[in-house]
Amino acid sequence: MEKIRIGILTGGGDCAGLNPAIKWAVKTALSERLEGERGVQYEVLGIKNGWRGLLNVESVGPDAEENIIPLSQEKVRTWDRYGGTFLGTSRTNPYDPENDQSKTVLDNIEKFGLEVIIAIGGDDTLGVALKLSKAGVNVVGIPKTIDKDLAETDYTLGFETAISVITEEVDRLRTTAGSHQRIFVVETMGRHAGWLALEGGESSGAYIILIPEYDFSLERVNELVLEGRKAGARYDIILVAEGAKPVGGTEFVKIEGVDSFGHKALGGIGEYMADEIAGNTKLECRSVVLSHLQRGGAPCAYDRRMGRYFGIAAIDLITNNDYGKMVCYRNGRITSVPLSRVIGKTNFVNVETEYDKERYNGRRTIL
Ligand code: F6P
Repeated sequence: MEKIRIGILTGGGDCAGLNPAIKWAVKTALSERLEGERGVQYEVLGIKNGWRGLLNVESVGPDAEENIIPLSQEKVRTWDRYGGTFLGTSRTNPYDPENDQSKTVLDNIEKFGLEVIIAIGGDDTLGVALKLSKAGVNVVGIPKTIDKDLAETDYTLGFETAISVITEEVDRLRTTAGSHQRIFVVETMGRHAGWLALEGGESSGAYIILIPEYDFSLERVNELVLEGRKAGARYDIILVAEGAKPVGGTEFVKIEGVDSFGHKALGGIGEYMADEIAGNTKLECRSVVLSHLQRGGAPCAYDRRMGRYFGIAAIDLITNNDYGKMVCYRNGRITSVPLSRVIGKTNFVNVETEYDKERYNGRRTIL
């Protein structure tokens, strides 16, 4: 029987949903029942720490020190219950213009006989996969990012767990906000896309939601807060995406410089807003940065299910010799799309149809 060696890795920021995707890819690839039907025998190797695991690798083995380890159905049996990634991750870019290590990655893919690479990641990790695919490597992508900003898919792993975290944390803030009649500005992640703030705000019933796709007016925010108080509100919850900014302003950056994929580390808008609102409305205001809490914890039911569907679909693509693609979720169906149509684009909130520019909140009416 033909034998195919698959390597699987997780890259970029971790999130809930990665382990379920790994488990189901491994389980589907190694199923003896399916093996008979497919007439191909797969072997799956886990590559540690994203693309970094392919830079520094001497041998393959079960040893915890190894960067490439064999995965079995038994090893991954319970993985879908856990957050993070048991394979580890990194933001290593082998195509970093200042330190191009792509040749080492290509050499190691060949040296260790990896006939296919399943890359689970966002635009950065899958961007590397696309470049490798152009260099002749068989790749399959699985979409993941709590930001839900990848193009050509309606879902990216980790998003719904992050939304659950936001909702739970806002519930918690409500009791203390109410006791003190305070305003809480809650800063979410999301980079340049507002999905986490928007849908987290909608789920938790935030009074005001500020997103990067629509520059807000500080005067309008203050006006809305005072209007709410006049109408009897005892406290307010305001959700602000880390990439949101006031009209005429720029994004708030917490660390100078960029990473190897050219990203700035955003953050600080929440604290700025809390100070501004307090100063202008004379109401007590506090800020909370949810930060990496949004990426932590066990996957919610939806991420376990979507991880399962994406993991299975990745093996389907391999069985069909259909490479250079990302599995995706579109219009209620699991399907796939060429990576070349995904990379370099961003899935933004459509402010014309999904955002109320007057009340700074979600807008989900029939148009
Ligand atoms: O892309 C995922 C994300 O969580 C962004 O929302 C956030 O800006 C960034 O990663 C944080 O990255 P790091 O883990 O490097 O702090």
